[in-house]
Amino acid sequence: MSDETGTDTSTETSIDTDTAPAGGVRNFLDVDDLSREELHDVLTRATELKERQQRGKLHPLLEGQSLGMIFEKPSTRTRVSFETGMTQLGGHAVFLGPDDIHLGHGEPVKDTARALSRYVDLVMARTFDHSDVEELASYAEVPVINGLTDDAHPCQTLADLLTIRERFEEFDASVAWVGDGNNVCQSFVLGAAMTDIDLTVATPDGYEVTDEVLDRAAELGEAPETTTDPEAAVADSDVVYTDVWISMGQEERRATKLEDFDGFQITPELLGDRYLMHCLPAHRGEEVTDAALESENAIVWDQAENRLHAQKGLMTFLSGA
Ligand code: CP
Ligand code: NVA
Repeated sequence: MSDETGTDTSTETSIDTDTAPAGGVRNFLDVDDLSREELHDVLTRATELKERQQRGKLHPLLEGQSLGMIFEKPSTRTRVSFETGMTQLGGHAVFLGPDDIHLGHGEPVKDTARALSRYVDLVMARTFDHSDVEELASYAEVPVINGLTDDAHPCQTLADLLTIRERFEEFDASVAWVGDGNNVCQSFVLGAAMTDIDLTVATPDGYEVTDEVLDRAAELGEAPETTTDPEAAVADSDVVYTDVWISMGQEERRATKLEDFDGFQITPELLGDRYLMHCLPAHRGEEVTDAALESENAIVWDQAENRLHAQKGLMTFLSGA
């Protein structure tokens, strides 16, 4: 079927995959809530949905379904990719900003979870405390997706893995993380362990990935090598990945952190001919120079785009579509 512009407007409402979510309502609070097989399934769905979209094929796999999106912090990519992703899947997303709902101030998190479950089919939440998404998940009767907490950013990792797999078959890549060992890094550590990516993490003293996350990575595959030396970390790498030094909610620590991260900036010299990844938003002149970010080595816009496809794969997986 095609419209007057010749675009193929026929619909595809099923997806070829090996696994359906097992065990009732499934949440995605961090990457290792999926098994290795399920992670590959989500990424395969993402690739298939990306191709369908690029071919102009409609793919209303979640027709009539709604996603509630709770945001305690600002967002560009997460908000827009989830909202447009739901629209492309034939569903609908409801934005719930910090001043829109009672979460955490007018009513307990568990009450919000139970009420929302009576309206929506999926919940995505961006909170400060990781314990808040855990509480949402334990009281919600629908899947809860972590859209970033102070500890984890698993949706970012899905997009990162998709971006790496598009360039390195079978994830055969060596990645150097240079920067803060907090949320984005911690989820990436788990994702790298689950896909056998060779990862080295360089952080300043005091900003390491937690031992708890390193232990989980070791159980999933291999824990990354760790160092405080950015140059040593990037030496044998194909990809350099960084994130802001001042995360949302850390503005009061700005002066101290700028001092602590001295020497960790990604410059064209440190980058060399390696790919540059960044979850964005970027603070040019802090963790990365404008020249590095604007160079041909940067694949950050592909990462940003892949948030859309990866999350569509995730939502269809969690919904059993
Ligand atoms: N990378 C990421 O989560 O970006 P936003 O804060 O814009 O959602
Ligand atoms: N570490 C950053 C990631 C933003 C997507 C933050 O928490 O603000």
